[in-house]
Amino acid sequence: MRHLMSPLDFSPQELNELFDLATDMEQNPEKYQDSCKRKILATCFYEPSTRTRLSFEAAMLKLGGNVIGFSDAASSSASKGESVSDTIQIISSYADICAMRHPKEGAPMVASSISSIPVINAGDGGHQHPTQTLTDLLTIRSLKGRLDNFTIGLCGDLKFGRTVHSLIHALMRYPNIQFVFISPDELKIPDYLVDLLREKNIPYKEVIKLDDVLPSLDLLYMTRVQKERFFNEEDYVRLKDFYILNKEKMKLAKEDMLILHPLPRVNEISVEVDEDPRAAYFKQVQYGVYVRMALIYTLLNKTSKEVL
Ligand code: CP
Repeated sequence: MRHLMSPLDFSPQELNELFDLATDMEQNPEKYQDSCKRKILATCFYEPSTRTRLSFEAAMLKLGGNVIGFSDAASSSASKGESVSDTIQIISSYADICAMRHPKEGAPMVASSISSIPVINAGDGGHQHPTQTLTDLLTIRSLKGRLDNFTIGLCGDLKFGRTVHSLIHALMRYPNIQFVFISPDELKIPDYLVDLLREKNIPYKEVIKLDDVLPSLDLLYMTRVQKERFFNEEDYVRLKDFYILNKEKMKLAKEDMLILHPLPRVNEISVEVDEDPRAAYFKQVQYGVYVRMALIYTLLNKTSKEVL
């Protein structure tokens, strides 16, 4: 039985197969409409979500399966003190697969160590968000036609941003990727990731001003400054509007640069940018459904090769 805790749990070859399957699911949805019939997905969300939870649920419904779950720790028995380990043992009796989001780093990992069904990390604190990374990679592969040879700028909250941490881990495995980290000093990329890049001789630079590097980017991954990760309201207020990508700034960018964002956005991308053909963040949301369909299908012990 396999779980998904980190994007590195799948080899690049396995990811390619997963993305091929996701693309086939996009193009031939009727082929898969009953492929998870009588299977149940549990979505156990101890933290708020719109995209991740609903795209998992939509994915399972499109595969002909059913969904149970909770969207808030307060409405589960966690509010009475039940541990994650006990909860997953209960869920294992009700469902065939579980997607779990938790504010504590490592909570889905703890669940997977005792679970008798596959567990998918749907975001754990400031640590990892592997299914967002699968979404990001499928979007890049579909819109750019490759997952190598580009310069990617990651902008905003690089300290607490789990989507950023997962994406960096995943992209390190592809050739000729250059990273540009754009953040205020207070939200810089964690040292352990910088150490890893140095160890692997992967080129990166850290800058504060977006304008200085925008013309050099093939991809720009914008992120929100996350209010929920700050201990101090004053720091959040000072940093929340540090970056605002608008139409004027987009004049500096390459004509084929893609703008990605895991969403939700607050102010970091002006709505006027939405009509720019380079804005890919709403397309990303759609790819998130296909890749989660492929993931559920694969983890329920069906390999992509059996289908394609
Ligand atoms: N991208 C993402 O994780 O969005 P939600 O928090 O709405 O799930």
